[in-house]
Amino acid sequence: VQGALWGGRFAGGPADALAELSKSTHFDWRLAGYDIAGSRAHARVLHKAGLLDDGELEGMLAALDQLDADVKSGAYVPAPSDEDVHGSLERGLIERAGTQLGGKLRAGRSRNDQIATLGRMYLRDHARIIGSGVLSVIDALVGQAQAHLGVAMPGRTHLQHAQPILLSHHLLAHAWSLLRDVQRLADWDKRAAVSPYGSGALAGSSLGLDPNAVAEDLGFDSAVWNSLDGTAARDVYAEFSWVAAMIGVDLSRVSEDIILWATKEFSFVTLDDAYSTGSSIMPQKKNPDVAELARGKAGRLIGDLAGLLATLKGLPLAYNRDLQEDKEPVFDAADTLEVLLPAVSGMIATLKFNTERMQSLAPQGFALATDIAEWLVRQGVPFREAHELSGAAVQLAEGRGVELWDLTDEDYAGISPHLTPEVRSVLSTEGSLDSRSSQGGTARSAVELQLAELIRQVGEV
Ligand code: ARG
Repeated sequence: VQGALWGGRFAGGPADALAELSKSTHFDWRLAGYDIAGSRAHARVLHKAGLLDDGELEGMLAALDQLDADVKSGAYVPAPSDEDVHGSLERGLIERAGTQLGGKLRAGRSRNDQIATLGRMYLRDHARIIGSGVLSVIDALVGQAQAHLGVAMPGRTHLQHAQPILLSHHLLAHAWSLLRDVQRLADWDKRAAVSPYGSGALAGSSLGLDPNAVAEDLGFDSAVWNSLDGTAARDVYAEFSWVAAMIGVDLSRVSEDIILWATKEFSFVTLDDAYSTGSSIMPQKKNPDVAELARGKAGRLIGDLAGLLATLKGLPLAYNRDLQEDKEPVFDAADTLEVLLPAVSGMIATLKFNTERMQSLAPQGFALATDIAEWLVRQGVPFREAHELSGAAVQLAEGRGVELWDLTDEDYAGISPHLTPEVRSVLSTEGSLDSRSSQGGTARSAVELQLAELIRQVGEV
């Protein structure tokens, strides 16, 4: 078959329908630079093994440099007849180095070990880009937390008022989960830093090539210990995709908060004009599209992961062509996050908080009931009873349509002699916040320590 990498035993060319189905250049061409880097490393081990002489190595590297430059400039692009990035680049190499020399490079390697390696190289580079994008979102959250230290807001469970918390505490909660995502990417890289090159089609190479030399050349820590594993495993891709999906989910959760906060009913935040959109029919509209797209993209990232795992689940060892389907989901995940992360960090960094409203709502909805119960516990009342007494105060206040601090000393005394006027010390947002000062709590002192620890951990990744 003219030009193909595997024509020798075939009498005729592939059907057009097969060629169409088989083709992957429209998505794997983005690996061209990595493929050429792999070819340089491979040429060097062929030389080391005595399979290329000094002049041949020099000629090969010069042709690869020229090919690289032509790919970068766009002068060389895949032809419609090229099946994949590897075949196309071999054609380009032969055009530059001649059939004699260019035809020597394929010895001892297979597209199976090549593609497994190039995918890891690509994902390792993009994991770094994504990691720094996530760090920018963390920076934006930290910046807002620092700018609003001391501002209280209603803390919610079940979306109902629960207890007052600091706005900074809420923002940093999102920062912690995103920080774990960055830590996950860094940890994932240890498993991704192992090179499958040298595994050949499935069984390794008989040509005395040194896989660890190629690995080192390509920036990996080491080479795989099992060639079947090297060519057939895609758990490293799946793990990348899981972390990408988790980042999507974490961005979606912070976005959902912002969408709620931006409603008329909440009125906690105003989005910057640069990060909001209008309506084509309703002139007054200012919509949180960045946050909504983040929520939507999370679904897409989960889909990428689910699709990839479904592709892998039934595959026998070693390489199967199904594995060609491994690339689009991970490329899509990387592309999606690389577009999304700067928009989310910009949106968060430019949010304006309506701090007065947040503060005034913080203690409402009987959000200090737990403080009454815990105050009673500090007076020696068993929590079971304290819970009941505080609940009775809520019932009384709710019946009258007032808040807990509107009840009189007599009202409290009528509920229980334990409820002396001193209980008023916790019937304020400040009292409630200040009392939660142990590690991880929402007291300002604890939040300041938390902030310092978060910044320390950010500095470590
Ligand atoms: N384009 C293929 C892929 O993406 C490269 C490996 C092809 N190997 C093969 N034996 N057909 O997986």
